[in-house]
Amino acid sequence: MMDQAQALRKLVQRRASQPQGTTPQGESEKRTPRVITITSGKGGVGKSNFTLNFGIMLQEEGMRTLIFDADIGMANIDVLIGSPSSVSLYHVLNGSKRLEEIVQVGPSGIHYVPGGSGFKELHEMSSSSLERFLDELSEWSERYDVILFDTGAGLSKETIRFVAAADETFVVTTPEPTAIADAYALIKIVHTHFPDTAFRIVVNRVMDWSEGKQTAERLISVARRFLQLELPVLGYLNDDQHVMQAVKRQTPFTLLYPNIQVSKQIRQLAQAFLYDQEQQNTTRGITGFINRWLRRIT
Ligand SMILES: Nc1ncnc2c1ncn2[C@@H]1O[C@H](COP(=O)(O)OP(=O)(O)OP(=O)(O)O)[C@@H](O)[C@H]1O
Ligand SMILES: [Mg+2]
Repeated sequence: MMDQAQALRKLVQRRASQPQGTTPQGESEKRTPRVITITSGKGGVGKSNFTLNFGIMLQEEGMRTLIFDADIGMANIDVLIGSPSSVSLYHVLNGSKRLEEIVQVGPSGIHYVPGGSGFKELHEMSSSSLERFLDELSEWSERYDVILFDTGAGLSKETIRFVAAADETFVVTTPEPTAIADAYALIKIVHTHFPDTAFRIVVNRVMDWSEGKQTAERLISVARRFLQLELPVLGYLNDDQHVMQAVKRQTPFTLLYPNIQVSKQIRQLAQAFLYDQEQQNTTRGITGFINRWLRRIT
């Protein structure tokens, strides 16, 4: 008898083999969003603030952006926005809500899916509820250019699954040796199991550019030496008291303090990311994401 993971894989393979990129009439092209997972080895390094503000900057640059709060068990994004939500992905997975009913509109018109325990249950679902969820997700994802998954920290099974499934994984660290060591541990484990994972490094809470560069260099050199892996850098973000003030006021710092250095830096990262996107058009999209997600189920 096929086990449940096999049954789900078969289902997704069937979906993936359906023609993409056209409507039944073949007229308009469907969008394939770029899927990015944001993670870290150590907790509290600034992932959720980065995800939210980076997403807002992408949205302001004209990219339609969706943030999934994928921190299993601890909602982050809606708290940072000051708009706690009583619905989450959990309600979609248990069939009590449709995805479109739980997608929220946040600052600058960004869309987000509130966190909850939903993802834990994805691989425990029956084939019919999974099919319904995948239908909704792939239909809904066509509205976006970029989808950002904000995960919890560390090497949980769920986080590794997100990391391994995305087009790209941003690893956030701070200059603290413990954060760097944990970032390296995360990269090492993921790279060992899933060598095709594309990482980019974000160094948060730096004093200045040279501290960012030194921190990144430490990660780059150990990954090069021990994993034969080249780690590209997305950028460095200053440590700034205003970030904490913005968290307290439950308003994204880029909107509350648009002219501080860290807001300018994150805008530049978003612009550099977009420029890079235009250079390489290949994305695996949300169906690819789900496919790879299920492949990780063993
Ligand atoms: N650039 C920064 N400058 C100053 N403080 C910062 C900066 N980035 C984050 N912080 C501080 O770190 C705290 C934690 O940030 P955040 O919640 O984004 O981290 P996280 O990595 O998502 O945490 P968790 O692992 O718990 O999900 C913020 O509340 C803020 O006080
Ligand atoms: Mg967080």
